Amino acid sequence: MTDPQRPGSDRPAAGIDRRNASARRGLFITFEGPEGSGKSTQLKLLGKRLRGSNHAVLETAEPGGTPIGVQIRRVLLDAKNQELSPTAELLLMFAARAQNVDQWILPALASGKIVLCDRFTDSTLVYQGTGRGLGAEIVYEVDRIACRGLIPDLTLVIDIDVETGLARARRRNERSIDPETRIDDQSVEFHRTIRDAYHRLAEDEPRRVHLIDGSRPENTVSEDVMAQVIALLATPG
Ligand code: TMP
Repeated sequence: MTDPQRPGSDRPAAGIDRRNASARRGLFITFEGPEGSGKSTQLKLLGKRLRGSNHAVLETAEPGGTPIGVQIRRVLLDAKNQELSPTAELLLMFAARAQNVDQWILPALASGKIVLCDRFTDSTLVYQGTGRGLGAEIVYEVDRIACRGLIPDLTLVIDIDVETGLARARRRNERSIDPETRIDDQSVEFHRTIRDAYHRLAEDEPRRVHLIDGSRPENTVSEDVMAQVIALLATPG
């Protein structure tokens, strides 16, 4: 029996058919984590290292990525939009994702690039499926339409304790001229649920999803990230 609140529990096994999912030649690597985990920094460091080894890389992010996605992101993260319903939030996340998948991600994978994406459907499983209580099934349903079977080859969850992460995210927002606080501003309890859900996801999908301790110095975290990516690159396609 599957538990609809448990992200990943009834997800098709990832990894086995990763090359068949969309007639693609590249690799799809996603970064995930609670607020303020340092995942975006790690993504950029990885992009730099891969380019330095002559890999063709596309870096993108969700919600956002494409110009249309950036407009959707503003609606999603603007603290003024408190009345946004959980279902509308879920559908907007997937609207931005569908645009990204069609406009950037699938073409890049088809041309053999390594795509690095800052958050993907696992964020929706964790934040909307578990955090907002919509359940995993509805997330998978919309995912089938928006992503058409695209599952990351590797997902790195940069893990951080909730208090440290939220403090970092708040400092970042204070410095920003355009603070994106609607979801950051949820209760500490909400963010604890998110972190727990990421831990369960890593337990449920150990081949695809790896937890990396983000409380250590940036370079140490980056070495762990690189080790996972080297292992993926060595996996026969
Ligand atoms: P970011 O700070 O990593 O750019 O993410 C923006 C916020 O959006 C963050 O609070 C997590 C949230 N989010 C969801 O709730 N669901 C999703 O599907 C995605 C991609 C992000």
